[in-house]
Amino acid sequence: MKKLVAGMSLAAMMLAGTMAFAAGADDYKAKCAMCHGADGKGAMATKMGSKPLTDPAVQGMSDADIAKIISDGKGKMTGFKGKLSDDQIKAVAGYVKTLK
Ligand code: HEC
Repeated sequence: MKKLVAGMSLAAMMLAGTMAFAAGADDYKAKCAMCHGADGKGAMATKMGSKPLTDPAVQGMSDADIAKIISDGKGKMTGFKGKLSDDQIKAVAGYVKTLK
């Protein structure tokens, strides 16, 4: 019985992780892709001074660093504090790290 419960909570954790990931992808498409492109290499953002989000300099940042940029903004990018919840910002930051 104990094993079954442990297995079920593991499955629930994995499901929650997948859902956060999917939410990050949706918010990215809705709020970021118009500048950064679906693949992170969007011409709009790179013309305005952003590195491609696939760049090692961005991929090397921690999720917390990326979340801070999303929240506070950077240069010509306005922050998303108040437009996205902290959880949404974390999920999008996690999604950015999956861009290749
Ligand atoms: C209005 C267009 C625009 C939107 C929308 C936008 N960004 Fe940006 N973003 C930029 C620009 C321009 C920069 C470069 C800022 C600078 O360094 O001057 C940037 C920088 C970044 C960086 C750091 C990259 C670097 O060069 O240091 C990350 C990470 C990032 N954006 C993620 C996001 C995410 C995630 C979203 C959606 C929540 C988003 N951006 C929405 C324009 C945008």
